[in-house]
Amino acid sequence: MDPIADIIETLSSLGEQRYGKENVSQLAHALQCATLAEEDGATSALITASLLHDMGHLVDKRFEVGQKSEIDRHHENIGAAYLSAWFPPDVTDPIRLHVPAKRYLCATEDGYFDDLSDASVRSLKLQGGAFDKAEADAFISQPHAKDAVRLRRWDDLAKVPDLATLSLEHFRTHIDQVFVSTRA
Ligand SMILES: [Fe+2]
Repeated sequence: MDPIADIIETLSSLGEQRYGKENVSQLAHALQCATLAEEDGATSALITASLLHDMGHLVDKRFEVGQKSEIDRHHENIGAAYLSAWFPPDVTDPIRLHVPAKRYLCATEDGYFDDLSDASVRSLKLQGGAFDKAEADAFISQPHAKDAVRLRRWDDLAKVPDLATLSLEHFRTHIDQVFVSTRA
């Protein structure tokens, strides 16, 4: 099967599940995040990363176990590893770094923590809490960390029930532009 069609199919079918404890589905959350990225003038790579940043939840066979037991399954790593077969680091790095980006913003931006949703505050605790100064400095010096911070801000806003967005089909154009098969 065409791998992009496969990814889109996964997002549109499994994406009907709720996004953790938020009031939007995974698909609505992904589309809102990618729409915000596009409206903010992001590249096709970062728009694609925004659309697919939570794929790790959808391809994780033990997702339910993690939800029930409040275990951090590190969906950012699962998603980035899964997608690395088809996408370059300017897509997969912001995905892998979007959870540390929350820990970074909590450490460096006054008021950021206060605006997080209840679910995001709960997961922050499981994810290790705010970075200290040295951790924050080390984080932001990594390649694509600034893109991860941009993605994180759209991620935080992309939780509005019934919000109109651009379509999944629309984003296929961006996905096609950055898709590179790394498989022989
Ligand atoms: Fe997200």
